[in-house]
Amino acid sequence: MTFSRVVLSALFAAALCTAQISPSSSTDVYCGQFQTLVSPVSGNIFSTNEWGDDGSGASCVTVPAGDNSFSAEWKWAKNPDNVHAFPNVQLTSPTFPVQLLNLTRLNFGVDWSMAPSDGSSSLSAIQASADVVIDMFLDPSWVTAMASTTKPLYEVMVWMGQFGDANAIGANLTKSPPTYKLNGTTFSLYTGPNGAGQTVFSWLAQTNLTSFHNDISPLFNYLVDHNLLPTSAYLGSVQFGTETFHATSNVTFTASNFALDLEKGIKTSNALGGVVPNLALIAFVGLAGVMALL
Ligand SMILES: *[C@@H]1O[C@H](CO)[C@@H](O)[C@H](O)[C@H]1NC(C)=O
Ligand SMILES: *[C@@H]1O[C@H](CO)[C@@H](O)[C@H](O)[C@H]1NC(C)=O
Ligand SMILES: *[C@@H]1O[C@H](CO)[C@@H](O)[C@H](O)[C@H]1NC(C)=O
Ligand SMILES: *[C@@H]1O[C@H](CO)[C@@H](O)[C@H](O)[C@H]1NC(C)=O
Ligand SMILES: *[C@@H]1O[C@H](CO)[C@@H](O)[C@H](O)[C@H]1NC(C)=O
Repeated sequence: MTFSRVVLSALFAAALCTAQISPSSSTDVYCGQFQTLVSPVSGNIFSTNEWGDDGSGASCVTVPAGDNSFSAEWKWAKNPDNVHAFPNVQLTSPTFPVQLLNLTRLNFGVDWSMAPSDGSSSLSAIQASADVVIDMFLDPSWVTAMASTTKPLYEVMVWMGQFGDANAIGANLTKSPPTYKLNGTTFSLYTGPNGAGQTVFSWLAQTNLTSFHNDISPLFNYLVDHNLLPTSAYLGSVQFGTETFHATSNVTFTASNFALDLEKGIKTSNALGGVVPNLALIAFVGLAGVMALL
């Protein structure tokens, strides 16, 4: 169940986002299946991305004029185990692409919230399933890493919100995932292949982090140090949003103060540092049929 959901979100994310709309100076509301707004201020790209629309609900994205926030109001009644949409913002940076061997800092910031739109008592009362994630793509070719979300070899996700039955690829296959403590929060690492043949690494925060302002480059360092990602891979894009699965009445998701700050440089530690690969993960990646990358 968990498998195909997250998989397909990545699969269709970029491929189907085509229509570009001219931004206006006022608040804009987009309810079309594949609508994008390119901000003239920041270059950030806001997308409705309702790739899994099965006709059982609706989703609208609101982008205020200032372009440093957006919200999504949605509901999907059927197929509760499938992602129906990934309303998101793709953050731009002049530093892209950046090779992992030169990624000295990746500051990501956002404040977000998710709640029933109509004042229902809780998200569980309306059987809401959704996640809140940073979604990133990497490839040995910088062109591929920047131009696509389906062709890059690797997808790295950071889950800062998890509601209902939403879960990461590989999460149902391991009971004791490797963990990493980032700035006081423990993240668990799950791995598995998606339908596009990409190897997906998902870092799940142990708690919902509604105010997230962290340098997440150590999560990449871990993957490199454990020979799970080649240090030569390029990071080409960073998206933030919510994968929406199910709810019996409307859910409102808001995101504000998002910021991306990448720094390229010469690393003084990590990579090829003689760290013993994690055996459980290797077994996992092996399952994914990508032993070659080890
Ligand atoms: C894990 O989830 C996937 C996708 O739903 C499923 O195909 C697989 O059988 C599950 N594995 C286990 C051990 O439950
Ligand atoms: C629920 O959300 C959809 C999509 O944003 C919207 O079209 C609809 O008007 C909302 N329904 C209510 C009762 O607010
Ligand atoms: C996030 O919040 C929801 C709703 O309170 C809760 O069910 C879920 O367990 C939380 N997720 C984590 C990872 O703590
Ligand atoms: C750790 O978290 C605090 C509080 O959110 C933040 O201000 C600080 O920048 C974070 N440190 C790093 C290295 O990310
Ligand atoms: C990237 O890292 C390599 C190896 O440390 C170094 O030679 C190169 O100068 C770095 N590039 C940048 C842009 O800092």
